[in-house]
Amino acid sequence: MITLNDVKKNPQILEFINQTEQAMEALRYTNHGLRHSEVVSQRVLEISTAIGLDEREGELAAIAGFCHDMGNFMTRTLHHHFGGLLFGQVFTGQFEPRELAMIIQAISNHDKYEMNFVHNVSALVVLADKSDVHRSRVAKQSMEETKSDIHDRVNYATTESAVKVDKKEKRITLTLKIDTKFCPIIEYFEIFTERMIFCRKAAKFLGYNFGLVINDFQLL
Ligand SMILES: [Fe+2]
Ligand SMILES: [Fe+2]
Repeated sequence: MITLNDVKKNPQILEFINQTEQAMEALRYTNHGLRHSEVVSQRVLEISTAIGLDEREGELAAIAGFCHDMGNFMTRTLHHHFGGLLFGQVFTGQFEPRELAMIIQAISNHDKYEMNFVHNVSALVVLADKSDVHRSRVAKQSMEETKSDIHDRVNYATTESAVKVDKKEKRITLTLKIDTKFCPIIEYFEIFTERMIFCRKAAKFLGYNFGLVINDFQLL
């Protein structure tokens, strides 16, 4: 049985992620490399444990979370589909067929307009991915450059980012601290509204409401 650790140590997977990191840096995108992969897979595990999902289901989602952006080195616009196919090529015959298909579906689904949840694995990946906004995602560059791009500004202004689960109240809440000296909160919504809608859909699939708290204000 392939574990999360096996996937994290797989040289081919690590090279896809490494080349994705380089490709995104060349495009001056926020981090889509190892940092983001680690954060998403860790966040998946935290959420799945907190809501009490089956351990293997959580592990499959963490695997998909670790690999979800690795197709970016081939193409940005279709990276989700290519990532899913690449995963299948590397691991064909090594997972139980149902598990492999679930992981491929979760990777391929995470950035689609027709995003649809058919199992918990894909819902967990979307929640963990779309909630990863943080200063540490901004590629190192001058402050002037950071200020010139809205994605960089919003990520840089986000000094704290955490997903909290309230099992009793059935709420999954993204809590952010945004430095408003650096960017006004409206800019967050300018680029993240769609992602928050994806999070709400994913939480709903898991039987939870999605909450958003920014600078101690409950917005959702
Ligand atoms: Fe992505
Ligand atoms: Fe991502």
